[in-house]
Amino acid sequence: MTGRVAVVTGGTGTIGTEICKHLAAAGHRVVALCLPGTPDCVPEDWEAARKREGYEAKVYGCDVANFDETAEVLSRIETEIGPIDILVNAAGITRDATLRKMTPEQWRQVISANLDSVFSTTHVVIGGMMDRGFGRIINISSVNGQKGQFGQANYAASKAGIHGFTMSAAREGARKGVTVNTISPGYIESPMIMAVPEEHRAKILAEIPIGRFGKPSEIARLVAFLAAEESGFITGADISINGGQHIG
Ligand code: CAA
Repeated sequence: MTGRVAVVTGGTGTIGTEICKHLAAAGHRVVALCLPGTPDCVPEDWEAARKREGYEAKVYGCDVANFDETAEVLSRIETEIGPIDILVNAAGITRDATLRKMTPEQWRQVISANLDSVFSTTHVVIGGMMDRGFGRIINISSVNGQKGQFGQANYAASKAGIHGFTMSAAREGARKGVTVNTISPGYIESPMIMAVPEEHRAKILAEIPIGRFGKPSEIARLVAFLAAEESGFITGADISINGGQHIG
């Protein structure tokens, strides 16, 4: 048991839940954040399901696209559970549309949920991490932030922006024991992928040399690896995990 407090945004989703499981298995005290009012965000049910799987994790409702709400909820977690040493920014949404059809609302929603959230959460925790001389911040980006994707100008911009943020934060944290890294998953078996129309999904699958979509656990074990004490020399990296879909 490291006893370190790990907060995972988007923590009750398919990939987020798997991340929580791996962090708990590594001995951390895990807190998942989820967006109140969404189907994935039923705290009692989620916590009970984790107990049945043999580990404890807590849930706090929080709209991470809202700066003030995020500051309030993360401060409450630090008071009620303990200082946050590990932050995983896994919350993300899509509002896919070609540029000629994309509304300003679709643009803003995606930038707020995917990118503003990374600033809001990091802003709360990075000072304490630096003062204590230890921190791990892991930002979940996407292969589509690295290569672009038809119909995803908003999503790709938010995900590419995440890595710019990571590189800058990594420079600020480096002397104080705080590492900041990006993970760029490819297409992972999750509801987000299943929402892509079948004809597009089939074309995407054909572009993946390994010949399948990734598994949530394959992302989660990389998160746990980066969160470990022993990973302190890895910072500012963007680690691809995409079945060979984008190499380089
Ligand atoms: N490449 C090239 N052309 C494409 C295309 C593609 N991938 N997809 C559609 N088109 C073409 C169509 O053939 C059509 O051409 P014509 O006008 O010549 O007939 C035209 O674009 C249709 O344009 P529309 O604006 O009408 O597009 P649409 O509204 O029918 O659909 C879309 C647009 C919703 C973006 C749809 O293409 C789509 O769902 N694409 C998949 C997007 C995707 O991969 N999202 C990933 C979600 S998962 C995720 O994001 C997780 C992660 O991190 C990896």
